[in-house]
Amino acid sequence: MSEITSLVRQNILSLKPYSCARDEFKGEAEAYLDANENPLNYPYNRYPDPLQWTVKERIAAIKGVHPGQVFLGNGSDEAIDLVFRVFCEPRQDNVVAIDPTYGMYQVSADINDVEYRKVRLNADYSLDAQRVIDAADENTKAIFLCSPNNPTANLLNRKEMLKIVHGFKGITVIDEAYIDFSSEPSWLGELQKYPRLIVLQTFSKAWGLAGVRLGMAFASEEIIDLYNKVKYPYNINMLTQRLVMDELEQADRKAEWVSLLLKERKRLIDSLSKMELVQEVFPTDANFVLVKVADANAVYRYLVTKSIIVRNRNTVTLCEGCLRITVGVETENDLLLKALEEYNG
Ligand SMILES: Cc1ncc(COP(=O)(O)O)c(C=O)c1O
Repeated sequence: MSEITSLVRQNILSLKPYSCARDEFKGEAEAYLDANENPLNYPYNRYPDPLQWTVKERIAAIKGVHPGQVFLGNGSDEAIDLVFRVFCEPRQDNVVAIDPTYGMYQVSADINDVEYRKVRLNADYSLDAQRVIDAADENTKAIFLCSPNNPTANLLNRKEMLKIVHGFKGITVIDEAYIDFSSEPSWLGELQKYPRLIVLQTFSKAWGLAGVRLGMAFASEEIIDLYNKVKYPYNINMLTQRLVMDELEQADRKAEWVSLLLKERKRLIDSLSKMELVQEVFPTDANFVLVKVADANAVYRYLVTKSIIVRNRNTVTLCEGCLRITVGVETENDLLLKALEEYNG
């Protein structure tokens, strides 16, 4: 039994996956009479490629991995949910995650009836790997790390993360949704070395495609094969597959957006740091800034009256008094700064 197989739920190991018509025949045919589709209304009448090979080959080339190491999901949220469905036996296994972090890890754990163990970050939002490892036991199937982390905006220390990636015997998930805005390289380069590592990325942030819903998971082919076995057969629709192929040809535009947003981020940080209202602007490697103010609820409500919506993180662990502000375009950031300057609560 491989080290990955020993982590997988028994029912998933023995699962006979759904075999769709398009799995069985590859190539060009003159008449497609196998899938009970309507023969009219081409091309939308046809089911899409269930494994999205054209898109994956392009993504794999860009990311420097093998196409078989790529999973595409309906947002990264699908790839997060599959961690539980593939590896975690409900009411028996558990996962460990840093706290605070992206809320969907816990929601997915709760939906799948899997215990979710939280390990607080240090007061400066840094990671203490040993405390995370200590929270794990023989039923811990996965550890979730998010870097840059949401909502704290900081990168986790790479050496600390490595202690987990290297030392933990289960699956380590590193969520890199915000990696394009960060000063550090991705963990994708480490995949060959660590067969139990899953790296998550998304088209929702730097690529500007949140409405399209496409998330990526990168891992060993063994893990991706398990993901493919469990996912819904046609989980990525034809329109998304086609649109993303076009978008991938415009990587220059994405790079320009990132550099523009990084400039705006710096401008926001500089201006916010000078404001009396603002007690602290935390370091950020993402496309948002976490800001501490005296009365986050009041400032949040005031901004709503000005038609400006930020995220109130006041009730989140270690984020008392904090607002999470996404970097907008220049006009939006100007509106925010002007409103905050005029605030006299
Ligand atoms: C850390 C993190 N991961 C994943 C996601 C969700 O990504 P997607 O839109 O691909 O589901 C978010 C969204 O805010 C996020 O903050």
